Amino acid sequence: MDGNTTLAFYGIGAAAVATSVATLKKRLQLSQAKHRSLAGHARMSRWLAGFVPFYDYDEDRFFSSDEAPEEIAARRRNGFHRLSALYKARFAETIKQTAAASEKISDLQFTDAYRVPFQYRRVVQAHLPSAAFVQSSSGVTVTDLDGNRGYDLTGSYGVNVLGYDFYKGAMERGAARVRELGPVLGPYHPLIVENTKLLKQISGLDEVSFHMSGTEAVMQAVRLARYHTKRSHLVRFCGAYHGWWGDVQPGVGNPVPAHETYTLNDMSEDALRVLRTRHNIACVLINPLQALHPNGSAPSDSSLLDSGRSAHFDKDAYAEWLKRLRAVCTKRNIVLIFDEVFVGFRIAKGGAQDYFGVRADLVTYGKTLGGGLPIGVVCGRHDLMKRFRDDRPADICFARGTFNSHPYVMAAMNEFLRYLQTPEADAIYRDLDQIWDRRAAQLNARLAAQSLPVEVANLSSIWTVCYTQPSRYNWMLQYYLRAEGLALSWIGTGRLIFSLNYSEADFAAVADRFVVAAEAMQQDGWWWHSPALTNKTIRRTILKEMIRRRLFGPR
Ligand SMILES: Cc1ncc(COP(=O)(O)O)c(C=O)c1O
Repeated sequence: MDGNTTLAFYGIGAAAVATSVATLKKRLQLSQAKHRSLAGHARMSRWLAGFVPFYDYDEDRFFSSDEAPEEIAARRRNGFHRLSALYKARFAETIKQTAAASEKISDLQFTDAYRVPFQYRRVVQAHLPSAAFVQSSSGVTVTDLDGNRGYDLTGSYGVNVLGYDFYKGAMERGAARVRELGPVLGPYHPLIVENTKLLKQISGLDEVSFHMSGTEAVMQAVRLARYHTKRSHLVRFCGAYHGWWGDVQPGVGNPVPAHETYTLNDMSEDALRVLRTRHNIACVLINPLQALHPNGSAPSDSSLLDSGRSAHFDKDAYAEWLKRLRAVCTKRNIVLIFDEVFVGFRIAKGGAQDYFGVRADLVTYGKTLGGGLPIGVVCGRHDLMKRFRDDRPADICFARGTFNSHPYVMAAMNEFLRYLQTPEADAIYRDLDQIWDRRAAQLNARLAAQSLPVEVANLSSIWTVCYTQPSRYNWMLQYYLRAEGLALSWIGTGRLIFSLNYSEADFAAVADRFVVAAEAMQQDGWWWHSPALTNKTIRRTILKEMIRRRLFGPR
């Protein structure tokens, strides 16, 4: 080897080492930017989920899985069977119809299975069967097939912002306005023009595209970001829900791994470092609802194994985080997408952009915007919304959808958007946070005064129930609440969604019933507590049960 060759050889070697050190550093930064929970590690959580064995408790263990003494187990048993008798009498027809339909509707089978931690499922299903049918709605209530009227805390997955009667009116009036056209798709009904104008005003963005669901709107926003930046990866934050499309749901629940998604730690400096240093990031997806529980997944009672659920909304801190994200995205030409499918039109008329004082490049809306009908919308900057390149005619960003811009949806949406322009709507949004914060504080004060180990946390009208003392039975509260005439969605106390037409009297009735339900649950011994019972010991017990089951099978 002559001197020059040797030099070149060392040069290449040094460059290779430098490259791998840089790659390693980036890899390390990425690891540091993940939230330490399992939800922060999508691949690992999918892998581990495959090892969780099914096992369940017989009736004895069901009442004493926290090693409560027999006297407490007996109180629980009595309470449980009293509740069971009440359910079977009061909801007889609704339960009957649900059971019959469940065999044929796979969604019902799923939601029915995931109402409580799986160890308790069999006994609960036998004695507290689901009643998943309703026949009418009015004011802030829904009525089941047995004629029981309950206060609606489901919010129809967040769609119901203005009250069911408003949407009934919007759907009816809207249908009348487009009846002449009927189901014609392809060409538009002229109503779309006003919708577009109003959406541009509200979002402060240049263009609009219409889709059939929030999931599809998010798909399109991400696809556009990838197309225009020519980069591969999307960044989402740990726990955030953006619909059920694979790339935004990379962990448990998606059978296929997502290869081009980074799931990062919310509100963290390490995440900003990744955005500053990686060159393959097309967009950052924000679901502002995460402000209530950064890095936490959508809270569901089926994962309420202990009392570890926590939530706290700090508006200033989250606004500050969004501002910092905005600055990094601007600097790095990363598309900032606000997914306002849930919170848009709920927390403020101008949505999360107005509420937090931060502008996004693309915004997705859905749910309530359809005026009661299915919808997904993307609003964005002109340069990002364009689906073809003037100088490369074959390089397009394809997006269709048979039912997009359906005349009936456009008409109901028009009713919704026009209503938002009225002084009446202004009045609804005025003082919204004060109203809901006060209501939450009042309820919490009553619960605390009675030493009930429950409290609520809220982001405006979106609430979650937290538990202040270690217990394995918090998920039972959903059944006591239903017995008091409060209608909850299948995720139980994880999410209570109020429509904004709740009057003080309506809310007072809900608060009274909530307290009565929690008292009954306390009376029945479910919140029995001993110093040995901590969230840690609960989790350890469950882990041991799982390992035993995995190693030795059913015994
Ligand atoms: C923030 C967010 N994005 C997207 C979606 C998906 O919307 P859809 O259920 O209409 O597909 C949801 C639904 O809950 C959502 O909350």
